Amino acid sequence: MPGDKSISHRALMFSALAVGESTATGLLEGEDVMATAAAMRAMGADITRDDEGTWRIHGVGVGGLLDPRQALDMGNSGTSTRLLMGIIASHGIKATFTGDASLSGRPMGRVIEPLSKMGASFDASDGGTLPLTMRGALPAVPIEYRLPVASAQVKSAVLLAGLNTPGITTVIEPVPTRDHTERMLKGFGANLEAEEHYGVRSIRIHGEADLQAQHVVVPGDPSSAAFFMVAALLIEGSDLLLENVGLNPTRAGLVQVLRDMGGKIEEVNPREVGGEPVADLRVRHSQLNGIDIDPAIAPSMIDEFPVLFVAAALAKGTTRTSGLEELRVKESDRLSAMASALSVAGASVAETADGLVIEGTAGEPLRGTQTKPITTHLDHRIAMSMAVAGLASKDGVEVDDTSPIATSFPSFIELLEGAAK
Ligand code: S3P
Repeated sequence: MPGDKSISHRALMFSALAVGESTATGLLEGEDVMATAAAMRAMGADITRDDEGTWRIHGVGVGGLLDPRQALDMGNSGTSTRLLMGIIASHGIKATFTGDASLSGRPMGRVIEPLSKMGASFDASDGGTLPLTMRGALPAVPIEYRLPVASAQVKSAVLLAGLNTPGITTVIEPVPTRDHTERMLKGFGANLEAEEHYGVRSIRIHGEADLQAQHVVVPGDPSSAAFFMVAALLIEGSDLLLENVGLNPTRAGLVQVLRDMGGKIEEVNPREVGGEPVADLRVRHSQLNGIDIDPAIAPSMIDEFPVLFVAAALAKGTTRTSGLEELRVKESDRLSAMASALSVAGASVAETADGLVIEGTAGEPLRGTQTKPITTHLDHRIAMSMAVAGLASKDGVEVDDTSPIATSFPSFIELLEGAAK
């Protein structure tokens, strides 16, 4: 499996803020991560890749970023945008962020609000969207911030702003979200403590930190593996080994849910890679049963719902999901995009305010698309999920645009063709 997107962004950002030469191997070379690399270069870091695929990053040190001369083009990448806004918030520099049509419709108010409290100032487009220009504060002011939405990007933005802020910046998360920022910042030598009381996590970062250069090994992306897990479960005769799948508990919710639906998924050779739990997954064709999915598990599989909906469409019985309002502000409105995509392909789907209710076919292939292709709305995960649905259909599925797949998984089509032979 290709490198984890979340971890790859962080590897480049934190290396660019460390002193000396860091290296990263296994880095995801997708468009989103390349947008992060370009932005860090524009602010002074030296980033190169050698012929063996090792990335070398010469950092500028915390506090050392320079004014970018041009607007930072974030493409499709919400993670690049929100985490970089956090970093810049406590540097005395000014930056403009732009992005594609999908990113330009996504809410940035969720990071503008806490970062403004820390002293940064923002001039955003209507509704708190890109293009936006921001000016960091030097010195910034430490805050204690309780996350109003379960978002690792907002948590990370505040913690990263805290890196160059005197004193202690605290983030309280009522619902735990992916913890790659905390793990990796500690690995780079930041002084960060996390504690949990009755499921509520408090994370404290001591500011004016020095980060030390590191060698980062990026594990494989469970969100990319998800498409192959579901494909193998759905297609008769499948027995697929997915190598190098990150299984951080804050990311592995889909494995649990698919097992609860009856999916045969075995963990082989569990190990640790770059401070993260990893295993190979053996996945075999299984008869899946519809279930009610507990909304509490949503943060640990937040990017996997589109492909989970495909699994549900082929399961026996009804799958009900709820508490998924956040899916409406991803690269697309993933509730409405998947409801219409699966309906066009012949599945039985009802959309509610905060979830989908799907009546499965009990393994009968979907009809597939006939006259109308699937609209992907510049969303890589809609395109890849519907490619998996195509494998489980009579007529195949046509999607309008496969180019967004390159944002997170450039080798997807080639790997899927190989696996489907
Ligand atoms: C990410 C956090 C999640 C996820 C996104 C990557 C990250 O977003 O959907 O793909 O790397 O921190 P939210 O913070 O908006 O939930």
